[in-house]
Amino acid sequence: MTDANAILSAMTISERRLKHTLGVAEAAKEIAKTHFPALDLKQVELAALMHDFTKEYPYERQLELCAKYSIELTDEERNNPKLLHAKTAAMIASERFSLSTDICNAIYWHTTGKPAMSPFEIVIYLADYIEEFREDASCVKLREFYKKALSKELDKSIALNKTLVRSFDTTIKHLIAEEQTICKDTFEARNYYIDQLRAFNF
Ligand SMILES: [Fe+2]
Ligand SMILES: [Fe+2]
Repeated sequence: MTDANAILSAMTISERRLKHTLGVAEAAKEIAKTHFPALDLKQVELAALMHDFTKEYPYERQLELCAKYSIELTDEERNNPKLLHAKTAAMIASERFSLSTDICNAIYWHTTGKPAMSPFEIVIYLADYIEEFREDASCVKLREFYKKALSKELDKSIALNKTLVRSFDTTIKHLIAEEQTICKDTFEARNYYIDQLRAFNF
């Protein structure tokens, strides 16, 4: 049975990323407690610790892992190699650490998001964006937006949905500004969650 120590001792990441990873673990547990109290917090922690396991691997090593695990690369991934770490970390979580499918899926989707995410997927996706050590302006703004939404909305799921829509809007605007391609999963996720929000208003 894999525990947090097994993952931490196998990890080869910088101090900075370790701090981020531990921040994601804390934020993920808070988000789970707030919105999905049925989730097992130990499992949430394992997903968080694994999510950037391969983030600092060089591109060539990412490609080797993709070949090893028969991961097919999309056009967006060929153009933006940063996206690969989510898929390779998910495969290592499954093959090396025997983590559950729920955890592996949460790792797999943590960068792009997707429509109709599971509670695990939402928790890791959002925690990665708003954990307390992320200092880029867009993350700080989203963190504040989420806190404000939670304090204002009587229905916590509306606050969560609004935050998810805001996160996808922020990512898409950033990618446009950087003249990068936008993953279809990200804009489909944006459309899905804005529809969810509309449904709340009826
Ligand atoms: Fe990541
Ligand atoms: Fe991350």
